[in-house]
Amino acid sequence: MGGKQSTNAEQSRPSTAPPASRGSDKKTPAKTSQDDSKTTTASRQRSEKTKASDKTTSDEPSKRPSKKTESPPPRSRSADVSKRNRTSASSEAKHDGAYIVKDIENKKKNKLLVAAIDFGTTYSGYACLTKDEFENNKGDNSEIHCPTWEREGGLSYKAPTSVLFRPNKTFHSFGFDAEKYYHENSDNIDFKEWYFYKHFKMKLYTDKDELTQDTIIEDSREAGSRMNAVDVFAAVIKYFKEHLLKYFKDRNDDKEYFDNNDIHWVITVPAIWDLKAKQFMKDAAAKAGISGDQLTLALEPEAASLYCRKVPVSVETTKDGGKAIAAMQNGSQYIVFDQGGGTTDITVHEVTGQNTLKEIHQACGGHYGGNTVNAEFFKFLTTLLSGPVIKEIRDKNPSEYFDFMTTFEHKKTSFTADEKSMVTVRIPVVWMEVFKDNTGETLEEALLDSSYNGKVTINKDKLRMKYELFRKFFDYSINNVLKVFEDLFKKPAIANIRTLLAVGGYSESSVLINAIKQKFPNLTVIVPKDPGLAVLKGAVLYGFEPHAITERVSQYTYGVAMQKPYDPDVYDASKIATVRGRGGKRMVDDVFDKHIEIGKVCKIGEFEQEHDYYPLVNEQKIAHFEFYASELKSPKYTTDTKCQMIGTFSVELSKAGRIFLKLNASGTEIIGIVREEETGKESRAYFSLM
Ligand SMILES: Nc1ncnc2c1ncn2[C@@H]1O[C@H](COP(=O)(O)OP(=O)(O)OP(=O)(O)O)[C@@H](O)[C@H]1O
Ligand SMILES: [Mg+2]
Repeated sequence: MGGKQSTNAEQSRPSTAPPASRGSDKKTPAKTSQDDSKTTTASRQRSEKTKASDKTTSDEPSKRPSKKTESPPPRSRSADVSKRNRTSASSEAKHDGAYIVKDIENKKKNKLLVAAIDFGTTYSGYACLTKDEFENNKGDNSEIHCPTWEREGGLSYKAPTSVLFRPNKTFHSFGFDAEKYYHENSDNIDFKEWYFYKHFKMKLYTDKDELTQDTIIEDSREAGSRMNAVDVFAAVIKYFKEHLLKYFKDRNDDKEYFDNNDIHWVITVPAIWDLKAKQFMKDAAAKAGISGDQLTLALEPEAASLYCRKVPVSVETTKDGGKAIAAMQNGSQYIVFDQGGGTTDITVHEVTGQNTLKEIHQACGGHYGGNTVNAEFFKFLTTLLSGPVIKEIRDKNPSEYFDFMTTFEHKKTSFTADEKSMVTVRIPVVWMEVFKDNTGETLEEALLDSSYNGKVTINKDKLRMKYELFRKFFDYSINNVLKVFEDLFKKPAIANIRTLLAVGGYSESSVLINAIKQKFPNLTVIVPKDPGLAVLKGAVLYGFEPHAITERVSQYTYGVAMQKPYDPDVYDASKIATVRGRGGKRMVDDVFDKHIEIGKVCKIGEFEQEHDYYPLVNEQKIAHFEFYASELKSPKYTTDTKCQMIGTFSVELSKAGRIFLKLNASGTEIIGIVREEETGKESRAYFSLM
């Protein structure tokens, strides 16, 4: 019987009806199979199986149920709420959330300046543009201000994502300054008690399942010191904030110009990051003094795509026979490939208007960025010299250790696909001395007996490698990237796309770009000028035009927890709820009622099909919803490992009658609207998604 009811329940939803309430607040009651006012067996059966997550009688989310009902509430969810992996307090449901969203949007719109922070795995930076400048040069990237950072031998628009803290955990320095101070003072300062972090953004990926405000981050050294990850991120964001305010103050003869309240901040995050990592970034921003109503998170490939709107993609013959450079036309589809130091982020976009884009394929990728080339080189060094030798150099001669790694980085970035000669990397003498002290032989001697004989030679302080060997360091990342593309092109919707927009610093590598061109000869690969700045500058534009993105592909399946009648063929007995449903029916708990499926194209601002729910008992005064996100297409239970709770929402009911819930998860937040059938009363919940 349970199975039959389950079918009815699905049918009762207007699967064939026009999408209820799409794009408006107009309420279209879901088409149901029976009139709820008639207390027929059928309606009761139906109401039981579609009973919502109306399981508590609590006034507030996450509080124990009050004694409002005469019959006991089905089961307290409060314990679950606090135990499970909620994203954070800010994802707590807020009544009238949609209005709050509008209000916040307007506040951001009125800010005088947009400042974006690109927090990269390898390099980070900020850029800004005033509202006036944006309005006068709409869509033009050239006015965007990007500070320069001093490094050895020049200036750079981004600085290494390295940060140094004093023994008392106060911020000391960032970027090139942090690296220089740390490496140049190792002889006169004992840095053991200090904290030095580098490439720490990867932590948000590697620890994504356990990420919280308490996540600890170990510093870059072996047995390094530990700090709260959120404090490390917050310190860097705060540093950028103060750097920017100082820039404007200095520029205006020390007169006050902008203060933090005038700024709408945009922080970029990889599209493939999950909700917790995004929430973590918001928490870090809040700690740095950037409040939620002045902060937007931007997806890195979306930002890059906005930046590239005006990038020339082809040369066209004009009517008068001349030649013109054409940018992407309306309807053009292209792949955005953001290849940074850590992540490979791939999305597919379509131009929908002069300044608007939509996402047509869910973001995919992995962690095959440029730093994997360095990691492969490191593996090679470990084989050549042994782990203990490298460890000793790193611990006792950090400056020489760092020098060699930096030399490799320079070699890597200047290495081209056409290079066919031996590659020379200068190796600090200390490396060879420590090797000899540990092994009793010189590196030259050791090489003769190793598998690298003939491929690697040492001449004084020069380590020379055959081209093929050096090229191999790129294999891991390139092979993985090609595999992601191969899988992507198997999808019919993508198979005919012929344009690839390559951004991110690693896209400057001809080794990478040539490998892609060789594998996919029909693809036009476009690398814009300064590909490493596309995300950063695009994020500034996104701050002014968040509505430039018109559709997104859902990154998760979204739904709510509900109870259904127990059917032994469908549900596990362990899921039977302690409290019975109408007519004493056994119910199962934690059923995932799917509202939006992963991969679904959602129009920004439009609501999805509404679902209807019934209170479990007539006395029920509160409907309590638990909202979940899952990586699965059709999760069965909200307790499945790949499900995470994103918030809860309690609605006070005027009467224990049918209610409807519709969701919108196309933007940076999820908005749920609950409507009571009888009174038409609406309540809204808002949870932050990005
Ligand atoms: N010419 C080049 N050849 C090869 N690699 C390069 C070149 N220029 C930059 N890179 C690499 O690009 C990476 C940095 O790119 P980018 O600044 O876009 O990364 P990020 O934003 O720090 O990382 P992510 O976006 O993954 O968080 C580094 O690994 C760097 O070595
Ligand atoms: Mg990046």
